[in-house]
Amino acid sequence: MPLTVLDHPLAHDLLSRLRDVRTDPSEFRALTRRLGWLLITEATRDLATETVSIDTPMEPMETQRISERLVAIPVLRAGLGLLDAVTDLYPDTVVGYVGMERDEVTLQPRDYYAKLPPMDGRRALVVDPMLATGGSGSAAISHVKANAHPTSITFVCVVAAPEGVAQIERDHPEVPIIAGALDRQLNEQGFILPGLGDFGDRLHGTF
Ligand code: PRP
Ligand code: URA
Repeated sequence: MPLTVLDHPLAHDLLSRLRDVRTDPSEFRALTRRLGWLLITEATRDLATETVSIDTPMEPMETQRISERLVAIPVLRAGLGLLDAVTDLYPDTVVGYVGMERDEVTLQPRDYYAKLPPMDGRRALVVDPMLATGGSGSAAISHVKANAHPTSITFVCVVAAPEGVAQIERDHPEVPIIAGALDRQLNEQGFILPGLGDFGDRLHGTF
């Protein structure tokens, strides 16, 4: 499945501000939400629609309405930053949660929480801003697959590393990845370069 990287001046501008070390948590949250609108719009570009008949003030016409519903699954904690963007654009989205914490030494994800609603007939958007080694994202997708039955799964992130993209493609080849940027590499601690640092800490102000 292809990786799609946003290519829009607004996405570049928002990402540049997110990456900037001077950006404080309040601005970081607002920027994440705005970039989220672009990411979620791209992730839902092919949502199913149906034809409906309406009357404009001038005459009857046939138009398109969205017929496919969503389930958003933010990966805690950092994924919470993208949740508002989904519900802003699609208010009838239902929400499930998967909690994943990456071990600082082994870089292996540990799942510490999950609450998933029924998602039959809905498209699942797994949202986690940083796709680094891919361990957390892949485990979150596996958890959704093992416990629910969405029509499809899309993974949405702000910054992806090549290593993480390769991991998702290996484990879940049918899952499209929508990213704000594809960065150069991981450092020895598993942080993305140039990246933006620890997304969860910057979002929640926990330095
Ligand atoms: C971050 C991020 C991803 C994960 C990415 O979460 O939000 O979930 O790291 O790394 P990976 O691709 O190598 O697994 P973190 O474990 O820091 O937890 P947090 O969201 O609670 O800050
Ligand atoms: N998690 C983050 O928050 N940032 C990284 O660069 C890698 C994993």
